[in-house]
Amino acid sequence: MKFGILGAGGIARTMATTINRMPVVTRKVIASRDAARAEAFRKEFSFDAAYGSYEEMLADPEIDLVYIAVPHSHHYKWTLAALEAGKHVLCEKAFAVNEWKARDMIACARRKHLLLAEAIWTRYMPYRRIVTDLIASGEIGEITTVTANLGYPIDMNERIIRPELAGGALLDLSVYTLNFASMFLGNDIARINASCVMTDTGVDGQDSIFIEYRDGRMAHLFSTIYAQPTRTGYIYGRDGFIEVHNINNPDVIRLWKIADRTPVLQEEIFVPEKITGYEYEVLACEKAIRSGAIECPEMPHSETIEIMRQMDEIRRQFGLVFPGIE
Ligand SMILES: NC(=O)c1ccc[n+]([C@@H]2O[C@H](COP(=O)([O-])OP(=O)(O)OC[C@H]3O[C@@H](n4cnc5c(N)ncnc54)[C@H](OP(=O)(O)O)[C@@H]3O)[C@@H](O)[C@H]2O)c1
Repeated sequence: MKFGILGAGGIARTMATTINRMPVVTRKVIASRDAARAEAFRKEFSFDAAYGSYEEMLADPEIDLVYIAVPHSHHYKWTLAALEAGKHVLCEKAFAVNEWKARDMIACARRKHLLLAEAIWTRYMPYRRIVTDLIASGEIGEITTVTANLGYPIDMNERIIRPELAGGALLDLSVYTLNFASMFLGNDIARINASCVMTDTGVDGQDSIFIEYRDGRMAHLFSTIYAQPTRTGYIYGRDGFIEVHNINNPDVIRLWKIADRTPVLQEEIFVPEKITGYEYEVLACEKAIRSGAIECPEMPHSETIEIMRQMDEIRRQFGLVFPGIE
């Protein structure tokens, strides 16, 4: 698979490290708005070509998949441009700034019959099957509740604090807690109650999200751009609970049983050895492209739209708009 990275920022570097260790990726190119930055990146990661503009890279016929690695505000424009140029696309999370833009992007992929996948890496990881199997084993009994938190002190990062780049905790961090709840509780939601603490730049700095499901289960999620909390997710049942550390890049899963009101560690499962964790979404894309699919079963378009719909509702409750890009 011939792979093009659009944007030479932080996550582009992690992706470059990853694909450099994946034999399935046979050609690698980078595009930056700055030709010198692109060339320095090419040299550092021994890529095959560097482009000083995104347009130039999209005109390269020797690219199968374009990885959109720019701020949230720019996912829409560059995903559409890559699809129009005839490329398959893996677009970073949060997929878009709102539901209608996500729908537009997906409609374009359908029209062009090209793969469009959301790079929400946790959906593609083996840990998901480990947790699903533990739930199915019945060890913790009927599930009642999910909690999850995620945060990093990243309030000095322009991409995170600028409303015009669609910054804020929701699109950067709560997107993971929402995906965690969605993976293990589904999306049959009765109501969402969300509130946030705003930054002085006008985005959400800390989020508190409560979700009630129609069957009476609930999720309680929080995220923050000011601190690093435990990053743990818990799935609680009547007879015990499953602990996932860390929900952003899981390393260990613990099964706890309750005996006389005391949690007893039953099993501790370490996830399989990985390159960085990004390889799973790349492999899913390669498989989908090979089979002529336009979406990945790990994160189908319907789920991407569902998460965008939830985030739109949460932002409505926050009273948060992204000026000029909605
Ligand atoms: N999956 C994960 O674990 C994970 C982790 C971190 C980030 N992400 C996602 O990856 C995406 C990029 O995040 P990042 O941390 O890599 O961001 P970043 O380093 O701040 O920026 C990425 C690149 O975007 C390009 N860019 C294009 N238009 C821009 C503009 N108007 N302002 C600033 N930069 C612009 C720049 O590349 P050039 O100047 O080279 O063109 C910049 O280096 C986001 O969607 C983020 O949520 C995912």
